[in-house]
Amino acid sequence: MAPFPARSASSDGYRIVAAPARARFARPDRPETDVWTYNGTVPGSVVRLRQGERARLVVENRLDQETTVHWHGIRLPNAMDGVPGLTQPPIEPGKSFVYEFTPPDAGTFWYHPHANSLEQLGRGLAGAMIVEESEPVAVDRDLVWVISDWRLNDGGGIAPRFGNRMEAAMSGRVGNTVTVNGRVSEAESFLAGERVRLRIVNASLARIMALRFEGHRPTIVALDGQPCDPHEPENGRILLGPAMRVDLALDLGGEPGRRYDVIDDFYDGLSYRLTQLAYDARRPIRDHSVDAPVALPRNPLPEPDLASSERHTLTLQGGMMGGGMMGGGGGMMGMGHGAVWAINGQSMNGDGHAGMEPALVFERGRSVVLELRNETAWWHPMHIHGHSLKVLSRNGRAVPHRQWQDTVLMAPKDVVEAAFVADNPGDWMLHCHVMDHQMSGMMTVLRVA
Ligand code: C2O
Ligand code: CU
Repeated sequence: MAPFPARSASSDGYRIVAAPARARFARPDRPETDVWTYNGTVPGSVVRLRQGERARLVVENRLDQETTVHWHGIRLPNAMDGVPGLTQPPIEPGKSFVYEFTPPDAGTFWYHPHANSLEQLGRGLAGAMIVEESEPVAVDRDLVWVISDWRLNDGGGIAPRFGNRMEAAMSGRVGNTVTVNGRVSEAESFLAGERVRLRIVNASLARIMALRFEGHRPTIVALDGQPCDPHEPENGRILLGPAMRVDLALDLGGEPGRRYDVIDDFYDGLSYRLTQLAYDARRPIRDHSVDAPVALPRNPLPEPDLASSERHTLTLQGGMMGGGMMGGGGGMMGMGHGAVWAINGQSMNGDGHAGMEPALVFERGRSVVLELRNETAWWHPMHIHGHSLKVLSRNGRAVPHRQWQDTVLMAPKDVVEAAFVADNPGDWMLHCHVMDHQMSGMMTVLRVA
């Protein structure tokens, strides 16, 4: 695998430049691709911050259109959230914006634009953001896989025309080329006996993944940056919707010299090899496998008080159903022009703009239970800004393993209950992270006042 671009912070913080560049996803005989990058690479530089330490990130826009950066999953002050019109003016071409915040939680996060999101993310603007624990976690190596999904045409270029209405009403823009850290199906090298913390970020526009590790039993130790009770994935498949992250503790117990496939088989009949675990021929680095579990310290998330919480329902509506378009064409009240999706009958389009009226207003400090109801025939990874949701139940069954997520994947017809303390003042977006869905109406605003 290509050396992963890292960049350390200087005393005046990180500089992140959004600009066009060229990338090579595959073998040298394959054509290069014109992409948009953070600091010249896809994915962008890994930003490493420390929990509880103030961070300063200067974003410079060298694109020919407005942009902003959203620090996905970080509980930060509203003015630093990167939503154009709602939390800041967009960054004009040639201009910069300084983001400053202190990340309260350690874990695996990511950053991406929140302006013209479908195209900007689809052309490559995304990077991992890691907030380090104050005490290092006992692993031999800490690896990051940023997974991206591209729709390339025969010449290797990114297929144009983002925002196909029919696609937007269905699964969104699922591509034809999946990369790990910007490369197509290469192998990651390991030594037998190693214990690795593997952080996986699904940075795709719409592709949902179900990852299987041949010959290995990874343990899930965190979801969306938040530590959970360590557990093995259900049926051995790690389900990862767009924008979701998982931290795995991976013990390399395979045979020296062998290669093991990592498979994504989410879509029926379309399974493919994402990458391989390639073992060095040397003998194992330790005689016995490490048996102490990897334990991540919990983050200081406020525990919702369920007894006193207020309860609200957010119903996801629209899209193609039984051959017809629900909503759009005026079928659904409140659906604006070009909208195909709605939440509680209201559609907000685009990436964020001024004057978005909140659907719900919470008094600061209140515990809230959200009931998310997916009435559509499609999957939706629902993302909340500025907070993390404690997932309580799914379709009436309690969710095990203490699961905090900023992006909750909803299968068709799913009903999920999730709780949080509305403790972060400001106007916060809640939207589907399938970018075509967000752009075409599946978005709303929650106000904490
Ligand atoms: Cu990662 Cu509003 O998005
Ligand atoms: Cu969606």
